[in-house]
Amino acid sequence: MQNDNIKSMKLYNFIDRIYNELRELGKANSGSLSVNELSSFDQLHYHGTQAIDFAIKKLNINHKSKILEIGSGLGGPARYLAKKTGANITAVELQEDHHDAAVYLTKRCNLDSKVEHICGDFLQLEFPKNHYTVLVSWLALYHIPNRKKLLNNCIDILKPDGHLYVEDFAFFKPFDDNEKIELSNDFFANYLVSLSQYETDLKEAGFSKIFIEDMTSSWSKFTKDRYKNYQDNIDRHTRVHNEIIVQNMLYFYSFAMRYLSGGKLAGIRASAKK
Ligand SMILES: C[S@@+](CC[C@H](N)C(=O)[O-])C[C@H]1O[C@@H](n2cnc3c(N)ncnc32)[C@H](O)[C@@H]1O
Repeated sequence: MQNDNIKSMKLYNFIDRIYNELRELGKANSGSLSVNELSSFDQLHYHGTQAIDFAIKKLNINHKSKILEIGSGLGGPARYLAKKTGANITAVELQEDHHDAAVYLTKRCNLDSKVEHICGDFLQLEFPKNHYTVLVSWLALYHIPNRKKLLNNCIDILKPDGHLYVEDFAFFKPFDDNEKIELSNDFFANYLVSLSQYETDLKEAGFSKIFIEDMTSSWSKFTKDRYKNYQDNIDRHTRVHNEIIVQNMLYFYSFAMRYLSGGKLAGIRASAKK
């Protein structure tokens, strides 16, 4: 499953979508923005801010927490975490266009003193050791090929007793060659393993108190509703964006729906303690 072009995954094309949505809000170029008015388009995972609320509760995130997010996308989760809890967040994002949009949105939400955006590959960047109380990641780890290095880096930068919390993909049954190619192109999947291997990787890296929850049926339902909702509002989306962007999004939403209801792809949330 090796493909070096992340833009083959259609969710990541057309960053213009974000600026089109701002124009639709009547806030194209200036004025402050609120975290809530962005949440219908700046959360690139399942169940939007509800998923972030779950993590806040589970990890008891508060204003004293020092958080690093791996694969922060447009910065939606990081801004929501900062606004809701007062925590400081370092948000690491690989794609420059997503990072730039995230910096822009965070500034307009007046959260730039709480959220620091860093552009780069988490595996290649240096962070202070024994520093963060919580590492979080929503649907980014399966993009990153070297799980051993990834988890070792996580252990290094977490404080003793710090926690890792992730939403991610794994598999129930191995994929055939065609599926591997599709998942590589359309999901930029670079690390998909069985649920038991997922747990073993965490243990071998030195994590304890590992808890893994199967989210597949919940995410499958979410992707079905999302697809239907997008279809039902196709006129609105075509007006705000354009035909090409709409077809692009429908392709991606349909792909996610097909794999999450296919019986092989597993959606999980996992937490573990250093
Ligand atoms: C599905 S998006 C989720 C974004 C964000 N977590 C959210 O839920 O809104 C996953 C993000 O991980 C980023 N990513 C993938 N590999 C990465 C890496 N090695 N380092 C940093 N970010 C990475 C991608 O560019 C993408 O924006």
